[in-house]
Amino acid sequence: MYILGIESSCDETAAAVINEDKEILSSVVWTQLEEHKKFGGVVPEIAARAHLEKIDTIVTEALDKAGISFKDINAVAAAAGPGLIGGVIVGVMTAKAIAAVNNIPFIAVNHLEGHALAVRLVAPVQFPFLLLLTSGGHCQILEVRGVGDYKKLGGTIDDAAGEAFDKVAKMLHLGYPGGPLVEKAAQNGNPARFKLPRPLKGKPNCDFSFSGLKTAVRHAIESLSEELTDTDKADISAAFQLAVVDVMKDRMTKAIAIFKEDYPEANDIVVAGGVAANKAIRTMLQELAEENEMTFSAPPLNLCTDNAAMIAGAGLERLKLGLVDALDFRPRPRWPLYEAEEQV
Ligand code: KG4
Ligand code: ZN
Repeated sequence: MYILGIESSCDETAAAVINEDKEILSSVVWTQLEEHKKFGGVVPEIAARAHLEKIDTIVTEALDKAGISFKDINAVAAAAGPGLIGGVIVGVMTAKAIAAVNNIPFIAVNHLEGHALAVRLVAPVQFPFLLLLTSGGHCQILEVRGVGDYKKLGGTIDDAAGEAFDKVAKMLHLGYPGGPLVEKAAQNGNPARFKLPRPLKGKPNCDFSFSGLKTAVRHAIESLSEELTDTDKADISAAFQLAVVDVMKDRMTKAIAIFKEDYPEANDIVVAGGVAANKAIRTMLQELAEENEMTFSAPPLNLCTDNAAMIAGAGLERLKLGLVDALDFRPRPRWPLYEAEEQV
């Protein structure tokens, strides 16, 4: 059995083929980085047009690399939201056309569910597990109880963590996308030189807030009378990353207590989403898991950032449960994960 996955909800045009054993036979990701770089962020209209131009080539490339053709595909899954609607429509329409022509099931995958279940492509993580889902558009802690079955323990009340990384990178003139560049700069930095706040640390819930942290970074930059040196950039990056790690540790500690109460037998912690590529965050979660006698799992870096293998993976899980979608499924710009079953 072959599942084709398609992802086009932000600035990556991606297609992948997996088989029924979740082996990834191909995973092609074309990033629109160059298109958006000069604007310092993703421009929705440019993204939609770029997806439209590229999608056919990327799908063909994924099939070629997997050594199969259209007639071999058994089901096609596409990220149907949440995301930039122009791009989502391109991916969904392509998937629907392939499904209609080949008379195979179409599966509308919630992009966040793709991230959430990505780890199950590579590790034997069973439900329920505790998930820190952290990307450019989202930052939340969830109990993943099953496919389409999520309980939100907390989320950001303003910016997502990835967004904060990107904005800090912009302020420091490091480039775009910011996450990997801030992480790289932080390697040589002294995190103690600048004192940054730890928003919501110690609060009884599991929520996040990153906008105050971002403002504090701006004040730190403004406090310097000279042009930013590489040392300044490294020190601010290190201080910012440490603040994010600290806050995430605090929030996850709270979440673990709730999760353990809800599911005393469960012991898996998972991180997912683009920010999950960050090594400092991964190390903190690994240590936190050890302290709590839990197991920490994370997808490899290429399955953390946007890709289509995770969409194919979630599609396969849904297909196995008979959760396929009609061809009149409407792409959703907003689609909270904890209502993954609800379609409006
Ligand atoms: O999941 P993703 O590829 O796209 C969304 O669905 O948002 O996440 C992209 C986000 C960007 O904000 C990017 O800066 C961040 O993930 N990111 C990182 C790292 N790699 C990517 N943030 C921190 N450290 C990284 N190494
Ligand atoms: Zn994503």
